[in-house]
Amino acid sequence: MVCMMDITLFSRVYSVRRLSETDVPDILALCGKNRMYYRYCPPFVSEQSIRDDMNALPTGKEVADKYYVGYYDGGKLIAVLDLILAYPDKETAFIGFFMMDVSVQGKGIGSGIIGELCAYLAGNGFARVRLGWVRGNPQAEHFWHKNGFAETGAVYKTERYAVIAAQREL
Ligand SMILES: CC(C)(COP(=O)(O)OP(=O)(O)OC[C@H]1O[C@@H](n2cnc3c(N)ncnc32)[C@H](O)[C@@H]1OP(=O)(O)O)[C@@H](O)C(=O)NCCC(=O)NCCS
Repeated sequence: MVCMMDITLFSRVYSVRRLSETDVPDILALCGKNRMYYRYCPPFVSEQSIRDDMNALPTGKEVADKYYVGYYDGGKLIAVLDLILAYPDKETAFIGFFMMDVSVQGKGIGSGIIGELCAYLAGNGFARVRLGWVRGNPQAEHFWHKNGFAETGAVYKTERYAVIAAQREL
């Protein structure tokens, strides 16, 4: 399995690059318009929560396995993806966060991005992609079902919401 990914190959349609501190205002602008998401998954986004997400790693993972990336259409940030490779096991890639700019939603672009990503991961030896959505969030649940993700049966409870685990075999 290839451990270092070429993120420019995540998409043939959009430019993909790592996001960093200077991108925080653009990420905040994209996320802040997705009000439904934060109703189910509080607290509401802030510059600090974005910085925290940029640096967050599951237990046992290293920075090298984390891909906090932006998808650009021309100069415009249209999607943010947080991908952790080889988590929770070697053959699994984990999507920690995926969000589209509201202005381009409902046009099949999110599904296209996930389809291309899954194809790239499959080509690099991964067997499945795992993720979670907040129980009751219809947008997230329908989107992931539409994209071939099925509940694993695991539910992770936090103080404020429950997370439904799901995965797609590649
Ligand atoms: C979910 C999200 C990534 C979809 O992006 P997109 O580019 O609009 O996706 P597509 O156009 O490919 O697919 C849209 C699908 O999302 C689902 N969807 C979108 N809005 C919805 C809503 N209000 N209620 C129910 N389902 C909804 C539907 O399954 C829809 O498919 P349909 O049009 O065939 O019914 C985008 O809405 C988003 O960023 N939401 C906020 C963040 C989020 O929920 N991320 C995923 C959770 S981890």
